[in-house]
Amino acid sequence: METVHIFDTTLRDGEQSPGFSMNCGEKLLLARQLEQLGVDVIEAGFPIASPGDLEAVRAIAAEVKGSRIAALARARLEDVNAALRALEPAVRPRLHVFLATSDLHLEHKLRITRTEALDQVAKMVCYGRMRCDEVEFSAEDASRSDLAYLLEVIEAAARAGASIINLPDTVGYSTPEEYGAMFRAARKHLAGYPSVVFSAHCHNDLGLAVANSLAAIDAGARQVECTINGIGERAGNASLEEVAVALHVRQARYSVCTNISLEKIYSTSRLLTSVTGVSVPPNKAVVGANAFAHEAGIHQDGMLKNPMTYEIIVPEKVGVPLRRLVLGKHSGRNALRARLDELGYKTTDAELAECYKQAMAHADAAKLVTDRDLLSIIHKVRRGRSVAPANEDVSIAAAS
Ligand code: KIV
Ligand code: ZN
Repeated sequence: METVHIFDTTLRDGEQSPGFSMNCGEKLLLARQLEQLGVDVIEAGFPIASPGDLEAVRAIAAEVKGSRIAALARARLEDVNAALRALEPAVRPRLHVFLATSDLHLEHKLRITRTEALDQVAKMVCYGRMRCDEVEFSAEDASRSDLAYLLEVIEAAARAGASIINLPDTVGYSTPEEYGAMFRAARKHLAGYPSVVFSAHCHNDLGLAVANSLAAIDAGARQVECTINGIGERAGNASLEEVAVALHVRQARYSVCTNISLEKIYSTSRLLTSVTGVSVPPNKAVVGANAFAHEAGIHQDGMLKNPMTYEIIVPEKVGVPLRRLVLGKHSGRNALRARLDELGYKTTDAELAECYKQAMAHADAAKLVTDRDLLSIIHKVRRGRSVAPANEDVSIAAAS
């Protein structure tokens, strides 16, 4: 089975977005975790952006040897030199050179002609390749570029020595069909460069980043650029955990694998939230607080009988410690009985009926029924008075 390489850009594209900036120590902490996670390439930063970023890339390159370390540079001499300097200590460095190829960016942002851009790409990739074993070229805004021109530019990059060609959907504008078609055209055009690896880099402005990344894999991309928790510019990048889990759960459909240790996904996600102080929404796929939580009675009943009824992946597989049956106003008696059992209270039918009545009344007012609430209820039912349990305030909702 072919491997799709995971290129993590949490420390570059992710770190670039508001509220996510990290210092050198924090980046190093995350880089060590990404290495443990099995990420193939860690994009550690954009060294020309600041001396701090250059130092962080250098520190990561000096310490992290299990993953390849990449540094970003615009197709300009000063950028490329800064990236090369930062990558000096790396055993497996990758220089990542980019230049926009859409007319919109060329005319309004860069104010250069197509010919000038083509020339800049060829020169900087060639210069970089003479100083670094591996060069990736990214055609920024590829998905909104004139296809014929885009093909000309990536051919120039491949000829100059780029062995990875990245076609970003920089503004998250593409649809899966369009994005896949662009990769098919690019692969056909570069058939004379069989060792070139094509890479997808998708933003989530229309919520399609993961779908577009999967479409690119279908079309032959063998590197996907993504971030932990899907952080990144504006609406974020394709989320690493979603791509990796999709390829695992639907392996029969995609016929590719990754080197990601799925069991480390949850702890990596948690490390990022604790370092940045930005939590993930509860309904976030794979790592959100509700991703494996069940409150509705019908769902809880199914889960108690066979977890596959409402879960497509075992939570432990992605490192989520506990399956969570959340008790709320939609919960059923079976879930209540199961939780009381787990808390050490075997209930009679009559006790259960009374507990259920009181738990639902509580849930109406307080939304969730925590273990503390439940213990108080069962004690009240059994003794006819309320007893506050000692130090047993572990909410079911907070169990993971
Ligand atoms: O979104 C984008 O185009 C980028 C490139 C620099 C790779 O982040
Ligand atoms: Zn990006």
